Amino acid sequence: MNIVTRKFDTLVIGAGGAGLRAALQLSQANAKVAVLSKVFPTRSHTVAAQGGMNAALGNVTPDNWHWHMYDTVKGSDYLGDQDAIEYMCRAAAETVIELEHFGVPFSRLKNGSIYQRPFGGQSQNFGGDQAARTCAAADRTGHAMLHSLYQQNIRAKTHFFDEFFAIDLLKNNAGDVLGAIAYDIETSEKIIIEAKTTLIATGGAGQLFRTNTNASINTGDGMAMALRADIPLQDMEFFQFHPTGVAGKGMLITEGVRGEGGYLVNSEGERFMERYAPHAKDLASRDVVSRAVAIEIREGRGCGPNKDYVFLKLDHLGSDVIKKRLPGIRDISITFLGIDPIEEAIPVFPTAHYTMGGIPTNRFAQVVVPVGSGEEVIPGLYAAGECACASVHGANRLGGNSLLDIVVFGRAAGKHIIEYLKANPHHKVLPEDGAAHILQRLERWDRKIENSDESYTVPQLMAELKQVMEENCGVFRTEDVLEKGVNAVKAIKEKLTKAHISDYSTIFNTARIEALELENLVEIGLATVISALARKESRGAHSRIDFEKRDDVSWMKHSLYYMKDNLLIYKPVRTKALTVKTFPPRERVY
Ligand code: FUM
Repeated sequence: MNIVTRKFDTLVIGAGGAGLRAALQLSQANAKVAVLSKVFPTRSHTVAAQGGMNAALGNVTPDNWHWHMYDTVKGSDYLGDQDAIEYMCRAAAETVIELEHFGVPFSRLKNGSIYQRPFGGQSQNFGGDQAARTCAAADRTGHAMLHSLYQQNIRAKTHFFDEFFAIDLLKNNAGDVLGAIAYDIETSEKIIIEAKTTLIATGGAGQLFRTNTNASINTGDGMAMALRADIPLQDMEFFQFHPTGVAGKGMLITEGVRGEGGYLVNSEGERFMERYAPHAKDLASRDVVSRAVAIEIREGRGCGPNKDYVFLKLDHLGSDVIKKRLPGIRDISITFLGIDPIEEAIPVFPTAHYTMGGIPTNRFAQVVVPVGSGEEVIPGLYAAGECACASVHGANRLGGNSLLDIVVFGRAAGKHIIEYLKANPHHKVLPEDGAAHILQRLERWDRKIENSDESYTVPQLMAELKQVMEENCGVFRTEDVLEKGVNAVKAIKEKLTKAHISDYSTIFNTARIEALELENLVEIGLATVISALARKESRGAHSRIDFEKRDDVSWMKHSLYYMKDNLLIYKPVRTKALTVKTFPPRERVY
């Protein structure tokens, strides 16, 4: 292979919060770390996280990690693994304090401690009064975290490959992952990065849906790489719709608005969440609020000329609160809607937001795969953040648990890798033809640049995929609609074999990257609709009109989807916690 090769102890693919937190842990321990990212690190999607990060600091209301654990298990609709959830909730306070010491400029209370706001699904004392658990830097918490983590990595001398697109994982014949092959996006030169350990931290796949809150980079690249490396994806049927995306456009309007006292109203001016969640109201968990909004619209109580959104009202909060605590969403409203929320309500609609499923991992962020009747880790391979499924979110993630997930499991990966490198100090040999099958796949797109007379273009198919996913795998699902979705995504996969990239691809490599991203999204789309069609119950974000109830007898289990033959198998939920009693499944009311 005539490709430039570089060698590192660890390759981190993705420079969001999970990747940067892991890299920092490793660089500070003097490991030789490369972080490879398709965008400049501070443009990673973590930068867009608004409302904050959960930790039971108890700065505003009494709090306790065990209450946080209870809320997370209940929020997950009992599909989350309780050992991993205990680990995350226990580690939360320490990781926030670490971030504070890294320089994250959290908002402050009058007494100087970190500001915390109420978020959905949070309670005191196992289901009692509302808790205020979300540590915030105004409504730009992800921005503050990502910039601090990047600066700390620069200081720790982490090596960055900025604007490099990871194409696929490299393996030897024993199935060990030995790094990845990538494109330098600017030059289209390929590079091989050999590594003793690899961490996939590439984020989610919100671009599967036409209206989403995600950055355009969120194309599920790492998850698709895992699928092509014969690793299954777990719980892909669970995709979160955020109740308050800007109607028709998708930009996130943080749950922090409701945490600060904002609320939803329908066309009759009714505060309708009081009917759906009498206790928690607008701060019920996201799946509940998204369904309520969708029902209000379906039953004709939507607002606007087409009755296709509801209003998020916050003008009563006063300009001081809005300017101090919610300046980012005010900017978004003014810029994209011409609406100043100090004076007017914001039109909102449930919008694709978060991939709950992903690459199966344990609480050390090691990738785990089924072997025989049990499971094994893939030595040296790790995944963390939205691309991974630890599984701490189960069927529905609580707001504020995503920034927590990325730093807790990014750090856990870093810690585990340090020990792994001590026991495994040498590189394994990458076979001479280790990248041959990947290069073959790429040739197909290179050839199309010269020969673009095929029938479909990449942008056409990308638009078709997003439309199909939105129409067939949304907030409410049925057998018929999902079946249509499966067939439609399979047809798009077939058309993709006949697609070309646009003429301008000879000038801009981004067109080639878009083709690879579409290949990735199609595989993630298939994983999502096939897993959703198979699950014949309603649980968390997976809401089947034809199977309305949760079915713990038949379905309290994780799905595992393989790309080969679209195979689906299942494994049990880990209900046993680490040190505390299991929270057994109960009816979920808010
Ligand atoms: O609403 C929000 O600020 C989103 C937070 C999250 O997804 O955790």
